[in-house]
Amino acid sequence: MQDLDENTVTDAALAQMAGTSDPRLKQIMDAAVRHLHAFVRDVELTPAEWLTGIQFLTAIGQACTPIRQEFILLSDVLGVSAVVNALHDRKARELGTQSSLLGPFYREGAPDLQLGDCIVQNPSVEPIVIYGRITDNAGNPLPNALLQVWQTNEHGLYDLQATQGDSMDMRANFRTDAQGRYFFRTVRPLGYSIPMDGPVGDLVQRQNRHGFRPSHIHFLIGAPGYRELVTALYFSDDAHIDSDTVFGVSGSLVVNAKDDPDSPIQGLRAVRYDFRLARAVVDEAGRVGADPSRLMPAAE
Ligand code: BEZ
Ligand code: FE
Repeated sequence: MQDLDENTVTDAALAQMAGTSDPRLKQIMDAAVRHLHAFVRDVELTPAEWLTGIQFLTAIGQACTPIRQEFILLSDVLGVSAVVNALHDRKARELGTQSSLLGPFYREGAPDLQLGDCIVQNPSVEPIVIYGRITDNAGNPLPNALLQVWQTNEHGLYDLQATQGDSMDMRANFRTDAQGRYFFRTVRPLGYSIPMDGPVGDLVQRQNRHGFRPSHIHFLIGAPGYRELVTALYFSDDAHIDSDTVFGVSGSLVVNAKDDPDSPIQGLRAVRYDFRLARAVVDEAGRVGADPSRLMPAAE
């Protein structure tokens, strides 16, 4: 009969899990148990605090809907998603454009538009142009690459927030031309607050954080044989460019819109950005983040 205390229970739990047949599951759960036990000992967690934690996680699950993923939001505000992205980039076989958060507003099935089209149905401000090339790591163009783009409008709202319906706006899919070029018109998005009306927002408020993401445009880019790229471009003049609440900004992804004689559409300010895709690695695990509707159990 073992006499377990707050230290020896860790080895006892690891021993019970020792027969796990999937080696990666074993590695992950062993580390999770070791770190969790160490964390509980470190802060000397009380039963009341343990219960608060359980209630917090329960509320997070209850806040999830087909269009809201509160667990991913928790991962984001704790910086966990950013760590997973950075590790993913480090494991690439060659350097591509840096990743950034997918966020909760990605939707499959956005409209397919032609190069040069505007992704905003009724812009109330002068559009800007986003253009550039999609290449491999050596700078060779990738024709017919799929570029999916989505963003907030000029007021900082995604389509689902702006209309309360499920119509698609401020998002589109494009294919690069034979030279790997893409270009489209849009409005300069406004930065916005992450959803603050749930348990994650309560936590962020109690931490005296502002909850804002700087103005950005999301991209999901794919081409056969290349690693899918999930990233975003951030506008340099946003007040929160150095304090993104979900840690998605890196210097290499910061842009600004300016007059540009090389832009394929003249008379509008433009952002040029060339995206580089790394070659795919066999058996690579999927993307960071997900369309929230895919994470809900199927209806009975
Ligand atoms: C976004 O970029 O849309 C986003 C990312 C993480 C949390 C909330 C929003
Ligand atoms: Fe976003």
